Amino acid sequence: MSMTGAAKLAGIIGWPVAHSRSPALHGYWLKEYGIDGAYVPMAVKPEDLRRVLQTLPAMGFRGCNLTIPHKEDGMRAVDDYDASAKRAGGVNTVVVQGNGRLMGISTDGFGFLAALRATLGGFNAAAGPAVVLGAGGAARAIVAALLDDGAREVRLVNRTPERAAKLAKELGGQVKGIAWDARQQALDGAALLVNATSLGMEGQPALELPLDPLPRDAIVNDIVYAPLETPLLAAARARGNRCVDGLGMLLYQAQPGFEAWFGVKPEVTQGLRQAVLATLAK
Ligand code: ATR
Repeated sequence: MSMTGAAKLAGIIGWPVAHSRSPALHGYWLKEYGIDGAYVPMAVKPEDLRRVLQTLPAMGFRGCNLTIPHKEDGMRAVDDYDASAKRAGGVNTVVVQGNGRLMGISTDGFGFLAALRATLGGFNAAAGPAVVLGAGGAARAIVAALLDDGAREVRLVNRTPERAAKLAKELGGQVKGIAWDARQQALDGAALLVNATSLGMEGQPALELPLDPLPRDAIVNDIVYAPLETPLLAAARARGNRCVDGLGMLLYQAQPGFEAWFGVKPEVTQGLRQAVLATLAK
């Protein structure tokens, strides 16, 4: 359907923002559900974030997504944030409330768990130790989600040990910081391995990690989605581990925002996957 003067408005704020797949993702759903709405990219400098966000309600926006580098600053730029944002240490979704106040949430942890559950037909973080590589924003949201889902042991492996130690301190005793050089041994007895670093992404260095100690029934998830089949996933698949690619988290993290802004709970379908994958090939 074409847009009218009554179109519902949302979008994504980043700096830069041109790389974002979110306009294609939300655009697909708007079309799929025949919603009179628009989801637009907004390139906003860090120093302008607060001003732009605070102006959204007056412009009739129902909310927006925040991406790099705004997620952490977003916590200070919204009026309120919920427990999910606090746990993740950042805001990726902003919803304009009925009273005009900006509510910040983080749907990254939700997206991570939802992708695992959908791909595997169920997932329980209490099943066994998890190894998470990385200690950036994505890793934090993932570790928090695992703990909230009942994980009893998370081995957090990061190149810069101080970052892993800081995260472990903030998120609780079940998180153990592990040195980057000890990453292979950390796989011993693990039920889940997640790569939450940028290693293996197109244009980035490879992730050097022989999987020998990893049990064959462990699940392997890479949050990198370009390429979709990373060398880590290919190696894991070849030895019989069940794999979850990085596209799932990207698609599922978008669900709660779309529902809040446009009033429909959208489905993650093969059609959506294909549409977003097509933008990655460009
Ligand atoms: P995001 O918010 O998307 O998670 P980030 O905060 O830049 O992004 O985090 C990137 C992660 O990839 C970090 O854990 C980083 O390790 P450091 O904390 O040591 O920087 C990790 N990473 C990036 N390049 C790496 C490399 N060459 N070797 C090992 N880890 C790397």
